[in-house]
Amino acid sequence: MSFITVDGIQLAYTDTGLGAPVVLLHGYPFNRSLWNEQVGALSNSYRVITPDLRGHGESDAVQGAATMNRMAQDVAELLDHLQISRAVIGGLSMGGYVALAFYKQFPSRVRALVLADTRAQADTEEGKQTRSQQAEKALAEGMAGIADAMLPKLLTPDTVSKRPEVVKRVRDMMLKTKPEGAAGALLGMAEREDQTELLSRITCPALILVGQDDPITPVQDSEKMNRDIRGSRLVVIENAAHVSNLERTEQFNEELTKFLKQSIS
Ligand code: MLT
Repeated sequence: MSFITVDGIQLAYTDTGLGAPVVLLHGYPFNRSLWNEQVGALSNSYRVITPDLRGHGESDAVQGAATMNRMAQDVAELLDHLQISRAVIGGLSMGGYVALAFYKQFPSRVRALVLADTRAQADTEEGKQTRSQQAEKALAEGMAGIADAMLPKLLTPDTVSKRPEVVKRVRDMMLKTKPEGAAGALLGMAEREDQTELLSRITCPALILVGQDDPITPVQDSEKMNRDIRGSRLVVIENAAHVSNLERTEQFNEELTKFLKQSIS
């Protein structure tokens, strides 16, 4: 693990393997360890870069909203530091919001996009209010309540009852997130712009993955992105909810590897 100073704060990241660069951006309120199995599967053939987005993992948190645009700039500055001009940019959920914000600001730096369990729409007014309440709750009470409320939406009931190691992994990531980092991400997600219009302007290869039972970013959101992004490929992963890369690692990795082989050979 390494650190870089960006915008006055320290960001942690890992940079593993050699080959065409692939950046993987975790969701909220997780950290770069979300991608351990993908780093393992890809790093024999690719250079895989996994940052802890600001406020998460071992990266610093700042007060106030951590916007998706600012997180995308952090990623761009990390790539500058690593002397990488273009990369595959992938993200799960909030990481997908950041990937779309990155494409909007730096389209020529994106070789291909991977959008997992995410969506292009902004929050509704009601959604924004809920984010602000959750941000206050995280700051006042810490992460345990947030983690308990989120768990049943992140994993299928089958995973929750039969795979305690996956439940523990997801829960531990959430508990490790700093409350001020979680609050910043919540306020940043609430402020994010609607990227629906951007979709038809995406010209790079794009892979869209979604758990069939994802209640946070449902399959319809991915179908919409797939209709609007020219030439994209949609994969609906059965028996998975929101954290599809952890629930169905084998299928997720197989689709990701196939896509990378086809699109950036
Ligand atoms: C995430 O997994 O990043 C979040 O659940 C996304 C969201 O709340 O919109």
